Amino acid sequence: MIIAIDGPTASGKGTIAKALAAHYGLPHLDTGLLYRAVGRQVFLSGGNPDDPDHALAAADFPETLLDDPDLRSEATGALASRVSIHPAVRAALLARQQAFARQPGGAVLDGRDIATVIAPEAEAKLFITASVAARALRRWAEMHKRGEDVTREAIEADLAMRDERDRNRAAAPLRQAEGAALLDTSALSIEAAIAAAIALVEQQLVTKGMRP
Ligand code: C5P
Repeated sequence: MIIAIDGPTASGKGTIAKALAAHYGLPHLDTGLLYRAVGRQVFLSGGNPDDPDHALAAADFPETLLDDPDLRSEATGALASRVSIHPAVRAALLARQQAFARQPGGAVLDGRDIATVIAPEAEAKLFITASVAARALRRWAEMHKRGEDVTREAIEADLAMRDERDRNRAAAPLRQAEGAALLDTSALSIEAAIAAAIALVEQQLVTKGMRP
């Protein structure tokens, strides 16, 4: 079974994807990490993330880069959002994501275009969302805990800019796929969001005749 999870930054999709993978005993791929690795590689090689040739060259990043703790930083997230608009970069990462999705037994993938481009055949599709204010508050709390000095206003502005770029790009824009269930986590605890996600997956499996 393939479970496709899409949604904007800090919507809770990563946490939900991990929980669904554990619940169903499936391997999980955070596809944002691949785009982050491309962004980080452009930076390390002194290239320009807005130049499609530089970004494409960086898509050939070394595997060890995926373990780089810097991939999780806000700065790398912003670079990822810039390299991900290039269709050639998306094409270069496509086969790897599809092979992961189609492995025997299935998988859980989370990202922006999983249900629309990578695995439209997924048996279960969720679109996770939350208000900008709720997402900014979560991101602020995470960063505050790490001792980073940043205001909620600055985070809100950055999230809004990234949303705009992800939703309005020509190649694989972020959108709710046909047949994807919408889950708004703004007012939900992590536990409640996970329970709701499992219930939505189960509903879709019933519809597909995969549950009695
Ligand atoms: O999800 P995460 O914040 O790690 O993703 C970083 C960036 O990578 C996103 O802002 C988005 O631009 C890009 N991305 C994408 N397609 C995916 C996953 C991430 O374009 N499937």
